[in-house]
Amino acid sequence: MKKIIWATWMLVTLSIAGYYGYILFKADNKQALLIGETSHGHFQIELACSSCHTEAFGGPELIQEACVGCHGAELTEANDTHPKKKFTDPRNADRLSVVDARYCVSCHTEHRKEITAPVGVTLPEDYCFHCHTDVGGDRESHRDLAFDSCASAGCHNYHDNRALFEDFLVHNHAGPWLKEIARLTNPNGAAILASKRVPEQQPTFPEQKAAHPDIHQEWSGSSHADAGVDCGGCHSDVSSGEWLENPGIAQCQTCHIHEAESYKSGKHGMRLAQSLPAIRPADSKMPFKETALSLQQGCNSCHSAHRTDTLFAASEACLTCHNDDHSRGFDSSPHGQLLTQAIAGAIPVEQAVSCATCHMPRAENIIDQETVVQVNHNQNHNLRPNEKMIRPVCMQCHSLGFSIDALADPALIRNNFNGKPANHIPSIDWSLKRVAD
Ligand code: HEC
Ligand code: HEC
Ligand code: HEC
Ligand code: HEC
Ligand code: HEC
Ligand code: HEC
Ligand code: HEC
Ligand code: HEC
Ligand code: HEC
Ligand code: HEC
Repeated sequence: MKKIIWATWMLVTLSIAGYYGYILFKADNKQALLIGETSHGHFQIELACSSCHTEAFGGPELIQEACVGCHGAELTEANDTHPKKKFTDPRNADRLSVVDARYCVSCHTEHRKEITAPVGVTLPEDYCFHCHTDVGGDRESHRDLAFDSCASAGCHNYHDNRALFEDFLVHNHAGPWLKEIARLTNPNGAAILASKRVPEQQPTFPEQKAAHPDIHQEWSGSSHADAGVDCGGCHSDVSSGEWLENPGIAQCQTCHIHEAESYKSGKHGMRLAQSLPAIRPADSKMPFKETALSLQQGCNSCHSAHRTDTLFAASEACLTCHNDDHSRGFDSSPHGQLLTQAIAGAIPVEQAVSCATCHMPRAENIIDQETVVQVNHNQNHNLRPNEKMIRPVCMQCHSLGFSIDALADPALIRNNFNGKPANHIPSIDWSLKRVAD
């Protein structure tokens, strides 16, 4: 059976290579040229063919460059366990006979829905086996494991093992499931005092202030007003200086470069990076609220124009659109109840968890030699594999073992972490035993 799966996989992979190349760039109706449905990660930009096919007949090196151009920094940051350089080492050359791991497309090809698994992986599940046949012999604990279990059960990932490597497991094995001091260093809703660039000369548009007293009042209480960002900071046309009725991301990003860049590298903003119109819920297959289907993503999807209420942005805003079980489960989960209490002022915000705590965590960046807290606006940055959340998010409040178990439990993800994990992942126990032996 295994042989047949692998043979089919190789046939499919080989048979798509090579032909069509040039019509790719000539045709007007690109949709018609798509040779198959594009993966969950890329369907939004599938009509920007040249973002991956940078040249017709480009061959594998050029596609590789495109993949690395968009994902290279992320993989480096993830301390990739299997970087290309491991496989250009002649000692490992024999391992490439079945999966040529030097090339991304060996494991992530495109337009092949029938062989595409979650996270855009296009290999049969037992692929780890082809390079690590000896692990069962080397390690007592691994002797009877199925070879499709290495990466499917919270034990290992192919690229990102920052929260899963042996020393880390051993070092962090102890502690109760909920830390005695369970609080965030950089909580949602707390004021962010960063040095943003504010142009010295901004039109103040007094006639607009007079015509819209309600807006004037709302703006007066915002951190924009506090920081000296007047109406003209957003409402003046870059070239003419005239009143601009509907400012968009172009205006926001004159001051908020980091937020705009990270926004454009995740699924909310990725189309903008390809000069395509931003995504609307109607363009997606995920469940969204009926009332949100035609709302186009943009900075104001979560931030209202004249109020800068970041706690609203951190969860209520998300629920104007998202409508899957997980999102709907949040409000009644223990985390959601902490947030309700924080909004009511009953507990400090650093003890609460919002959608943004997990999906858009605050991070410290160094800008002009100054440490600045910023929000990563790429909500896919730590989404998959979800062990990416363990170190920056969960471990601020929970033990490593509890976090691993919770994130490996699909039922808990569905109900947004309402209850204890059903299963235990034994990797910490095995690591401790190996160290003791
Ligand atoms: C997100 C990246 C991406 C986008 C966008 C994309 N493709 Fe592809 N495409 C690929 C990958 C990866 C392969 C497989 C290459 C391989 O396996 O060597 C591929 C293969 C193909 C092939 C088979 C021939 C070949 O070069 O291997 C055709 C034809 C093709 N794509 C057409 C299109 C067209 C037309 C568009 C735009 C409508 C498009 N693609 C958009 C990534 C992309
Ligand atoms: C123009 C930029 C761009 C290019 C080129 C590109 N990607 Fe992506 N890719 C993205 C974005 C944006 C996402 C969605 C956000 C995310 O998951 O990080 C994504 C998602 C993914 C995912 C995760 C899918 C998921 O469901 O979680 C994988 C795997 C991936 N890309 C691999 C590749 C490979 C391999 C190539 C080269 C064939 C490639 N990408 C080319 C931008 C790009
Ligand atoms: C031998 C197979 C293999 C190769 C080669 C490979 N990947 Fe992956 N990739 C995976 C698997 C499996 C996953 C699923 C998550 C995991 O196990 O790490 C994944 C996940 C990803 C993700 C999702 C997010 C993440 O950080 O895990 C991205 C992005 C990605 N790969 C990009 C690339 C790029 C770019 C290349 C080429 C430089 C590449 N991959 C080469 C197997 C591979
Ligand atoms: C194409 C061959 C290949 C595939 C497929 C492959 N690996 Fe590896 N792996 C290697 C090589 C080469 C090394 C580095 C040398 C070594 O440690 O054996 C390595 C190292 C590792 C390490 C040790 C990393 C370290 O820094 O100590 C782990 C863990 C690992 N692989 C797990 C996996 C898992 C899990 C999978 C499947 C998701 C997988 N590998 C798939 C070739 C591969
Ligand atoms: C999906 C919802 C969402 C979208 C879309 C969004 N933001 Fe945010 N934004 C948030 C959340 C959530 C926070 C953090 C709230 C907190 O931690 O209190 C935030 C915080 C911020 C902050 C303050 C923190 C910092 O990093 O300095 C700025 C500035 C900001 N966003 C600008 C933007 C800009 C500019 C855009 C458009 C490119 C944008 N946002 C799009 C949700 C969003
Ligand atoms: C941080 C940027 C920003 C600042 C500062 C700002 N606005 Fe706006 N304003 C917007 C955005 C974005 C929209 C578009 C909202 C939409 O399309 O829903 C808007 C829309 C408007 C509109 C038209 C739509 C409506 O709601 O009636 C008026 C009028 C307006 N603003 C007046 C003002 C005045 C007066 C000031 C100064 C007191 C001001 N704005 C300051 C971003 C800003
Ligand atoms: C002229 C420069 C400028 C423009 C244009 C601008 N901002 Fe700001 N923004 C600032 C400054 C300065 C702050 C104050 C942050 C601080 O003190 O660290 C700020 C703060 C914020 C905050 C955080 C509020 C808080 O309480 O933490 C959000 C959210 C935000 N801006 C969103 C936007 C959005 C969305 C747009 C576009 C509609 C926009 N900004 C346009 C300069 C600007
Ligand atoms: C205007 C509607 C809207 C709002 C508001 C919104 N989103 Fe989204 N979200 C989308 C759309 C559309 C997608 C892309 C779906 C796709 O690619 O199929 C998306 C994608 C996502 C994804 C990636 C899903 C995946 O499988 O890759 C996450 C996570 C997410 N949103 C979280 C949030 C969070 C957290 C907030 C609030 C801070 C939020 N969203 C606010 C519309 C919205
Ligand atoms: C405690 C952390 C946590 C909180 C709080 C949280 N999420 Fe998630 N979210 C996750 C994890 C983990 C996943 C699953 C990632 C995976 O394994 O695919 C996920 C997945 C998602 C997805 C993708 C679902 C899919 O089918 O691809 C969306 C959309 C999303 N969350 C939105 C939200 C929204 C909206 C909120 C708040 C109402 C929220 N999340 C609160 C951790 C969290
Ligand atoms: C700011 C601290 C904080 C962060 C960050 C945090 N949690 Fe929690 N979590 C808590 C608190 C406090 C409780 C218990 C609430 C209660 O008992 O009412 C809890 C409860 C839970 C529960 C439910 C337990 C039960 O008995 O119902 C799960 C599961 C969980 N967290 C998983 C996670 C995961 C996974 C992450 C990371 C993606 C995470 N948490 C991030 C503080 C946090």
